[in-house]
Amino acid sequence: MDLDPLALPARERYALMIGLIQPRPIAWVSTVSPQGENNLAPFSFFTGIGAEPMSLCFSCANDRNGRKKDTLLNAEATGQFVVNFATEALAEKMNATSAPFARGVSEFERCGLTPAPSVKVRPPRVAESPAAFECELVQVVRLAEGPLAGNLIVGRVVRVHCDSALYKDGRVDHRDLRAVGRLEGNWYCRTRDDFELPRPEAA
Ligand SMILES: Cc1cc2nc3c(=O)[nH]c(=O)nc-3n(C[C@H](O)[C@H](O)[C@H](O)COP(=O)(O)O)c2cc1C
Repeated sequence: MDLDPLALPARERYALMIGLIQPRPIAWVSTVSPQGENNLAPFSFFTGIGAEPMSLCFSCANDRNGRKKDTLLNAEATGQFVVNFATEALAEKMNATSAPFARGVSEFERCGLTPAPSVKVRPPRVAESPAAFECELVQVVRLAEGPLAGNLIVGRVVRVHCDSALYKDGRVDHRDLRAVGRLEGNWYCRTRDDFELPRPEAA
């Protein structure tokens, strides 16, 4: 079967994307509004971009009514955000922060999470998370207007937090991090069923 995305409704395109782009890492993003209200939400259209400078991106899509979500509004207004990392132990709380709370409601308070002060940016990080990247906004790429349109948020990492139990000899081992990945629907995966493949030499 081959499909023309332009002939599909947006929701079916979305279903194909989340069904095939798997597993996805999760950026658990904290921001602060211009009025000083904390906000926290997960985003799985997320990846790193490069290490020089240390940069990453995630997509905060418009909601079903075509409105910008709080994370995008706050990141654009303040130029800052923090990417926290969600682990197996934090999966339920991470999911709880995705509820459509009204603007101005703090997911930290509503979901029983502790805001810890960041070093270089105003949004707090999640104290319970073992690692976080403090970021300055580089650019927002608005791909379109309207419901489900993507907004790529590009950030530069200006400070890194990592539990010393996790960061050993200059690296993090996935067996210590215990990240979770996002699948389709309400499904997630763990990183326990791992295997190793040495990088090949040129023939
Ligand atoms: C695991 C997970 C991943 C998500 N990934 C995305 C995503 O990549 N992009 C997006 O716009 N929404 C995503 N969502 C939905 C947002 O978290 C949700 O719309 C949230 O209410 C946005 O919060 P905000 O309005 O405070 O920014 C995801 C939800 C979950 C549970």
